[in-house]
Amino acid sequence: MKKVITYGTYDLLHEGHIRLLKRAKKLGDYLIVGVTSDLFDKNRGKMNVRQSLSERIIAIKETGLADQIIVEEYEGQKISDIIDLNIDIFTVGSDWIGKFDYLKNYCEVVYLDRTEGVSSTALRNSAFSEIVLGIVGVEVPVERMIEEIKYVSGIRLSGIYLNDKNKVDKIKKINSNLLIFSSAEELLKQSNAVYIAVARDENKKYIDMALEYNCHVLCESPMFLNSTDTEILMERAENKKLVLMEALKTRYFPAFQHMILLLRSGIIGTILDIDVSCSQFPDSLDINNKYFGSIYDFGSYAALPINSIFGKETVEIHLRGEFLDEFCRFLKGELLLTTGTATFKLGKGIKTEGNMIITGTEGYIYVPAPWWKTDYFEVRTEDLRNTKKYFYKFEGEGLRYEVNEFVKRINTRNYLMSAEEKNGLWLVSKLIETLEHDIIKDKLNRKGYMGSKSE
Ligand code: CTP
Repeated sequence: MKKVITYGTYDLLHEGHIRLLKRAKKLGDYLIVGVTSDLFDKNRGKMNVRQSLSERIIAIKETGLADQIIVEEYEGQKISDIIDLNIDIFTVGSDWIGKFDYLKNYCEVVYLDRTEGVSSTALRNSAFSEIVLGIVGVEVPVERMIEEIKYVSGIRLSGIYLNDKNKVDKIKKINSNLLIFSSAEELLKQSNAVYIAVARDENKKYIDMALEYNCHVLCESPMFLNSTDTEILMERAENKKLVLMEALKTRYFPAFQHMILLLRSGIIGTILDIDVSCSQFPDSLDINNKYFGSIYDFGSYAALPINSIFGKETVEIHLRGEFLDEFCRFLKGELLLTTGTATFKLGKGIKTEGNMIITGTEGYIYVPAPWWKTDYFEVRTEDLRNTKKYFYKFEGEGLRYEVNEFVKRINTRNYLMSAEEKNGLWLVSKLIETLEHDIIKDKLNRKGYMGSKSE
């Protein structure tokens, strides 16, 4: 029996796919179709796949052409599939000519003519109207965002409004074609979506304005500084059928997503504790604006793994901080949750090791610094020789993954935030409220260290 194998994403199954599968089937007696996993596609930078793995598998099944369907999960899997499944012929469309010649050492390689004029990319682009994104910002992510957007299809920039005039020349240098607007309102009129990266106390104002102008919103974290704003603006966006999403890039990194799945599958047993740190020593430190301080820059990042793993049930929060006047340069937190404990160290203008350790009853996960730009982690047990290492490369600065999610939500009209995201917003605003409350009450001695506690 001659066995043939072929691989692909098969998003929005189309005539080109079906013609390829028919011809692949004719090459032998038994056809195996490898369908790429969602994570594998993200890892190799294939953005904007519309259908989930199970939807794509069902579509292939329904063609009746595949005798067997397997999932392709990692780079290098083809060789082991070909050996393990005793494959005689590997085949793929001619858009890949030469790319798989290395497989000739294991089986025959056949490139079939690609069907002209149809592709998943074209279908994706025609199915959805274009997203026109304006940028409102003062900060570094703006420069990165301008670059990263180029890698996501179905979205283009309308222009930028900078409320810091000194940044205009710098941005013009990066992208001389970009339109610079003199007011946020003018920018919003020319856009149907907006990315907001301003000092955190201004988020609310610009989110309000963007919703007023019927724009979907992607806003740097922490999106809200208190739980009242969170509730009000989330409800307003939902009512207006607009996407409101926090730009917390780590949440969408392939490595972080995979780590959470592994933890939920019990890889280190019951999870007992998370210890996480984030710090940055910036080129220039603006201590006159407290909203650039440690909790504002990194609070959402610390809250992300804590909330993803333990959920919302925070019983106690203890904070100890070090301040330069209003500016919180260093903050240490201890959280007691119903099912575990967590500690964090956040620093802006100080430096500490930015790693993460997640402790379980059967082992622990170690994510090296900077864990929030994570592409690698280890699962360790008593015997370090059994350490398992996981590597999930991310492309560029990694912002394209969150932009991709933003685009996907707009196109699929998914206006509801997940419970996990809502809990994350809740936790960070709780931390900020606790800190503000303790400062007002002068429980936190700004020059020194005093504990705080919230029920
Ligand atoms: N294919 C084909 N003719 C087309 C499109 C795809 O023969 N018009 C083949 C590819 O060469 C590959 C298989 O179908 O062997 C699966 O391709 P996939 O990458 O999933 O489809 P595309 O439409 O090329 O997807 P995209 O636009 O996302 O790259």
